[in-house]
Amino acid sequence: MTRTLTILGIESSCDDTAAAVVRQVGSTLPEVLSSIVFGQNELHNAYGGVVPEIAARAHAEKLDICVRQALDASRQTLNELDAIAVTAGPGLIGGVMSGVMCAKGISAATGLPLIGVNHLAGHALTPRLTDGISYPYLILLVSGGHCQYLIARGPDDFTRLGGTIDDAPGEAFDKTARLLGLPQPGGPAVQAEAASGDPKRFRFPRPMLDRPDCNLSFSGLKTALMRMRDQVAASKGGLTRQDRADLCAGFQAAVVDVLAAKTRRAIGLYLLENPATPTLAVAGGVAANTAIRSELETVCTEMGTFFTAPPLHLCTDNAAMIAYAGLERFKAGASDGMNLTARPRWPLDLNSPSMLGSGRKGAKA
Ligand code: KG4
Ligand code: ZN
Repeated sequence: MTRTLTILGIESSCDDTAAAVVRQVGSTLPEVLSSIVFGQNELHNAYGGVVPEIAARAHAEKLDICVRQALDASRQTLNELDAIAVTAGPGLIGGVMSGVMCAKGISAATGLPLIGVNHLAGHALTPRLTDGISYPYLILLVSGGHCQYLIARGPDDFTRLGGTIDDAPGEAFDKTARLLGLPQPGGPAVQAEAASGDPKRFRFPRPMLDRPDCNLSFSGLKTALMRMRDQVAASKGGLTRQDRADLCAGFQAAVVDVLAAKTRRAIGLYLLENPATPTLAVAGGVAANTAIRSELETVCTEMGTFFTAPPLHLCTDNAAMIAYAGLERFKAGASDGMNLTARPRWPLDLNSPSMLGSGRKGAKA
């Protein structure tokens, strides 16, 4: 018999309060019945980054209405659902706790099963929600908070091939924009400036390319940019529009080169064990960068690998990805119950050594 599953997803691990309803009939392509996202940009803008305490309070205030809107937009009532999925980590702990408590409340009131979802798994499984790709596949998560290469084999089965040891690429784009007086979020602003810049005028480093692994580092690019900006400003008494465009173009070219080289390595490693399923998926806000996207597509073409990237609204933080990851876990028999705990750190691959540091958007896991 064909089984239909309808799952409510809740996400509150950083600065987006989100709820969504996803349905799958049998093993057909799942359908996003609703996806509501309340951003918090205006609450944090004045501080130059996400303030965890402000984020947690805003989540607690907005979660109920967000869930209500997601149910209304999907035309579902709570008793038509099969389960509730909630981000249980990694992320800013106050926000994660708000979401988990909200989900527990609904579960206690309705008796619906509760499923904890790893936020990174939500991103990593999105290409299955949007394109129905099969396991295994290689995924590059590249956003303001994350940067890692993972082999996805199942909803709870990931192998990390490498990741950033410091900043995430989106974080580097945002810092670059701040250093050059461009608006936030920095990625689109830097990309727009770079379009009229000369990528060869400033020589940016290509960090970690001398190492044979899939790890990356982006914090040195920002230091290099600051030095170059100060040199130009000191010699001319300020920056011209062209100087700024050239700095953006040089910075972006360095990010593109590093991601292309490390992706080549990651695909090579992945194909050694998975030659029959040559697929690279990219997810996260930075996947919106046209230079990065087209270079990764070129790398895939060269290596005979299928390339896919979900539409932007499902690349950036949302709850449809959490509902879908919960749906996969539920199908596999998972159910967490009232002892589900919120976790600030939660690596997808427990066998890999933990990555250093914690970023602007919480732990990098
Ligand atoms: O996935 P996302 O919405 O949030 C998390 O980080 O979880 O990603 C946001 C990041 C920001 O750092 C933003 O500057 C970056 O994605 N971004 C871009 C572009 N569009 C968004 N970076 C480079 N180029 C873009 N076109
Ligand atoms: Zn995210």
